[in-house]
Amino acid sequence: MLNDRYGNPVSTSSHAAVAHYDEALDLIRLYRGDPVGALDAALAEDPEFGSAWAARAGLLVQQTDKALADEVDKSLRAGAVSRLSNRDQIHLAAARDWSDGYYLDGTRRLASLAREMPRDLLAVQFAHTGCFFLGMQTELRDGPVQSLRAFRRGEDGYGVLMGMASFGFEECGDFALAEDYGKEAVAIDPRDGWAVHAVAHVNEMRGDLDAGIPWLADTAQDWAPESGFAYHNWWHLALLYLDAGNTDEVLRLYDTQVRPNPDSQVLLEGIDASSLLWRLLLEGVDVGDRFEPLAAAWERAAEDGNYAFNDLHALMAFVGAGRNDLVELTLKSMKRAASCEGDNAYLTRAIGLPLAQGFADFGAGRFAKAAEQILGVRGIAQRFGGSHAQRDILTLTALHAAIRGKMKPVAEALSHERLQQKPRSAWAGRLALRVSDIAREPDLARAG
Ligand SMILES: [Fe+2]
Repeated sequence: MLNDRYGNPVSTSSHAAVAHYDEALDLIRLYRGDPVGALDAALAEDPEFGSAWAARAGLLVQQTDKALADEVDKSLRAGAVSRLSNRDQIHLAAARDWSDGYYLDGTRRLASLAREMPRDLLAVQFAHTGCFFLGMQTELRDGPVQSLRAFRRGEDGYGVLMGMASFGFEECGDFALAEDYGKEAVAIDPRDGWAVHAVAHVNEMRGDLDAGIPWLADTAQDWAPESGFAYHNWWHLALLYLDAGNTDEVLRLYDTQVRPNPDSQVLLEGIDASSLLWRLLLEGVDVGDRFEPLAAAWERAAEDGNYAFNDLHALMAFVGAGRNDLVELTLKSMKRAASCEGDNAYLTRAIGLPLAQGFADFGAGRFAKAAEQILGVRGIAQRFGGSHAQRDILTLTALHAAIRGKMKPVAEALSHERLQQKPRSAWAGRLALRVSDIAREPDLARAG
């Protein structure tokens, strides 16, 4: 039996298959290129290479896109009749958990495997991704930190673990350590978009535009080419320009980097596009007809009920485009999903559906209801995934609802909270000014 690039046994005797598999591991950890293509090349060398089928299943299922279900099934079925080590069996079982809607079970399985085999970076990374989707913040940090015990500084894989650990530290609020770990990872490999991203989060949470804008803008030539993740780092840069009040640059980044293909069907891209346009909508910026193609791209997922975080972002596009038919369809689908089995049912019932209702209320001008719905679940909203920066859209929407609905104490509370957390943020300052003069806001609230 041969080993992969980190020394884990793999279930093939083909050196050519392992070379393609190792290439896939490199592409997966850097979110670059076409890792599925690399795994398919490994499987062309050895169709019964179970490690490759398991990685393929895990990679595809974590895209959280129902449209990929057939490819996930194909990988699970082929993997089940391939040569499988114990490690492969655990990877395959985790992917099956995810495919069946049991995201927490799958994530636990991978985290447990990573503790037993700390050099299995695929298990560490898939568990890390699972923790991200489930808002398991301490585990986002602890998984990669635990595995660092098995790697020497400078060894292949060490920097990638530092980047993952950096993001975990950031989500746990330890910004200084996050910055140290992330910068070391980027120094090791400037192409490591996840590590670049972790430091971008530190700058975002601090509201530090002076550090944040050059950190992304001046290094893009390293992390952006061939990255399957670049749109998200560009989204972070756009947020910083939005904070600075430069909405022309925000729209330019939206058109050229965040959403260069208005018809893109990649859901993770759609999430960033929705959340950027929604922030502009909150700020009263004219976004032209950008919501319409975005809503059209989301339409095929309106009835998926696969992952509540996606559903909420689809709904933002539908509200922005004035597609009330799709808003209603999404709410109906989420109600159905809330009554099903699996983890998404809980996420939808407890968090996704109240938020979606709140955002729909906001769109309809029912600002008091919107603020009540959003603030009612904001404190547990990390459970439905995403980062602090992504979920900031909940606070922003509640604050704007309070401003538009002239709910002075709520607006003051949320504005004060923001200024305390981000004293350097120009955006927080502008919002505080509006709140201080809330009586002069136009009357936009509608009854209901
Ligand atoms: Fe992010």
